[in-house]
Amino acid sequence: MINVLFVCLGNICRSPMAEAIFRDLVKKEGLEQQIRVDSAGTGDWHIGAQPHEGTRNILKKYHIPADGMKARQINVNDFQEFKYIVAMDASNVQNIKKLNSDQSDTRVMMLLDLVEEATDKNVPDPYFTGNFEEVYELVKKGCEQLLKELRQAHNI
Ligand code: 4NP
Repeated sequence: MINVLFVCLGNICRSPMAEAIFRDLVKKEGLEQQIRVDSAGTGDWHIGAQPHEGTRNILKKYHIPADGMKARQINVNDFQEFKYIVAMDASNVQNIKKLNSDQSDTRVMMLLDLVEEATDKNVPDPYFTGNFEEVYELVKKGCEQLLKELRQAHNI
């Protein structure tokens, strides 16, 4: 099983959006038995909360299931469990790396590093910008590229 964890700050806007979009792509390509998807936040403010209304609305608009999602905080065990930790921005990466004191072979990356045409590699935070549509378009491109690269890397 290839385990992929999307991470943002609050785990209510960007990373749950990425989790839902990526899971939908994985399902559409028939790879549910090979790829497991989750998301978490570096912060603890929203633990147990459902995704932000803006994220729920945009996922509904594009017919992407998002039932039963609840925010959680990333923890050290995630470095054992997840081979790929995919962050939304550079501050997430810094916070993730602070947590990881062991020598796990987890790959920590930024989603938009995979999107060549993205000039800014940070996914803007819609909690502050209010622009969930922009985030959807960026995250979708990143997720499509991530799946393509995982399929190549793992021969699936
Ligand atoms: P997210 O957005 O990291 O994309 O989930 C945020 C959600 C909540 C807060 C910040 C960012 N907050 O400060 O509570």
